[in-house]
Amino acid sequence: MSDSVSFSVNGVAVHLDVDGDRRLLWALRTELGLTGTKYSCGEGHCGACTVLVDGKPVRSCQKRVRDLKGREVTTIEGLETDGRLHPVQEAFIEADALQCGYCTPGMVMEAVGLLRSEPNPSAERILHAMEHNLCRCGAHPRIVSAVAAAAAAMRGGAG
Ligand code: FES
Ligand code: FES
Repeated sequence: MSDSVSFSVNGVAVHLDVDGDRRLLWALRTELGLTGTKYSCGEGHCGACTVLVDGKPVRSCQKRVRDLKGREVTTIEGLETDGRLHPVQEAFIEADALQCGYCTPGMVMEAVGLLRSEPNPSAERILHAMEHNLCRCGAHPRIVSAVAAAAAAMRGGAG
C-alpha cells in the first residue's frame, strides 16, 4: 500500500507516494536521484548510508519513509553552501582521509552530526563517535584527524 509522505531534503520540500516501509536510502537514491548516500551492509551496521534527520546522524537503510513526515533530511549533496564545501569535507580532502571513498559520505555526515551537537569533542570522543562507521580501506586514523581539524576550523569561524 502506498503512503503520501512530505518532508524536506536539503532544504527542498519533497512529496513521495511510496510504500511507507520503503527505506529512506532507496527513496533518496531512486525516487530523488541523490546517489551520494551509499548502500553497503543494508543492516544498520556499517554507516555508509548515514544522513542527518533533524540534524542527527541516522542510518538511512533502516529509516522508514513513513517516519519522516515533516522532518528535515540532509544528505552529502546538501552540505555545500554557495559553492563552498563544508569544513568537514574540506578537512577530509586536506587530511587525505579516504582511499576508495565509498565510506566517505557516511563518515562526513556522521562527523557533521557530531560537531553540530558537540563543537569541541575530545580525541576520545571523536574516536568513539566514528568507530561504528566502518572503513575497509583502513583510513580511520586520518578520518579521526580530519574530524578534529574540522572541529578546530569551525570553532575558529571557518565554517
Ligand atoms: S548500508 Fe546502512 S548501515 Fe550499512
Ligand atoms: S575509504 Fe574505502 S571504505 Fe573507507
